[in-house]
Amino acid sequence: MVTTTLQRALPTSGVSLPVQVVAPTLSDIIERAALADDLALVERTMVERTASRSRPIAAAGAYTVSAGGKRLRAALVLLAARLGSYDLERAARPAVAIELLHAASLVHDDLVDHTLRRRGRVTVHARWDRHVALMVGDYFFALAANELAAEPDPRIIRFYADAAQTVVEGELRPVTQLEPMSVALEQYFYKTGAKTAALFEAACKAGIAVGGGTAEQVEALERFGYNLGVAFQIIDDILDFTSNETALGKPAGNDLREGTLTLPLIYAVAQSDAPLLREVARTARPNPTQVPQLIEAVIAAGGISRALDEARQIVQQAQSALAHFPPTGALQALYDICDFVLQRQV
Ligand code: IPE
Ligand code: IPE
Ligand code: MG
Ligand code: MG
Repeated sequence: MVTTTLQRALPTSGVSLPVQVVAPTLSDIIERAALADDLALVERTMVERTASRSRPIAAAGAYTVSAGGKRLRAALVLLAARLGSYDLERAARPAVAIELLHAASLVHDDLVDHTLRRRGRVTVHARWDRHVALMVGDYFFALAANELAAEPDPRIIRFYADAAQTVVEGELRPVTQLEPMSVALEQYFYKTGAKTAALFEAACKAGIAVGGGTAEQVEALERFGYNLGVAFQIIDDILDFTSNETALGKPAGNDLREGTLTLPLIYAVAQSDAPLLREVARTARPNPTQVPQLIEAVIAAGGISRALDEARQIVQQAQSALAHFPPTGALQALYDICDFVLQRQV
């Protein structure tokens, strides 16, 4: 357990929040929920599944899986399943599949975003080439589908197929303008809901469904997962301004360099007359050579703290979706994940 403040979580943001809050780490949450053995099974299964007859696929697949990642989406599947009647063998399948889908989307995302580091390693397209990255991503999508072939409830494969379609649609829907703010926000939340929240939603729905949850419970987990996913992406977008490559295992400042317009910038532009922000508002094309100055301007304009406030409110909506579940260790872990998401530094 670490005690931190949001001031410390966002060291360069200048955001000053007086209240000291206790931030659970993901390891704390996993330990308290006695989830480690179950996640270890998910991990072993992923390693087994990525073996392939193709040498480059096997090599790049093993490279991707062994780089780790938080495995947050797998944890969500297992915890949501534990809200119902828990069968590890059954719940592990959608847990493996969601991490394969997620990994596929990251390998492709890094190609699209021209990113050179992921999970502390050189990205697949940079280490091999773009053809290998495309094929490994495709292979992982297919592995995820295969994993669900043994699942008797046909809703699960549908949740995942819908999510995969939505992620792809979201990846190709940019925020095209910063003003008026209402339009920028509409574009931002559409994209965020699609490229990130869809997988969180599918993970949580699949978990409660394999746990035998009622239709109302599936709907509750859908709302929980979607809102948690939106908040997760807002924090990811904040970290792109406030963190660094060593901490993140992927580059910081990449969104501005790539011209990706995110919530801190949208809010900063809406509440500042700083010349640099006026210029970005006009062109909607951040100048890659001015990234450090832009980061400073966004922080000074309060773009980070307003985005953080937004994430907090959205997490509250996520938590309210869980109101009707009886208090169990799994439920507590899901609440703790909400706190983790808001205060994470990786
Ligand atoms: C990264 O997700 C992609 C986003 C949706 C922002 P994670 O931060 O969960 O990535 P890993 O799995 O831990 O590497
Ligand atoms: C989320 O967006 C990526 C996917 C849905 C695959 P980002 O582009 O912000 O994710 P990172 O920052 O590269 O992890
Ligand atoms: Mg990216
Ligand atoms: Mg990002």
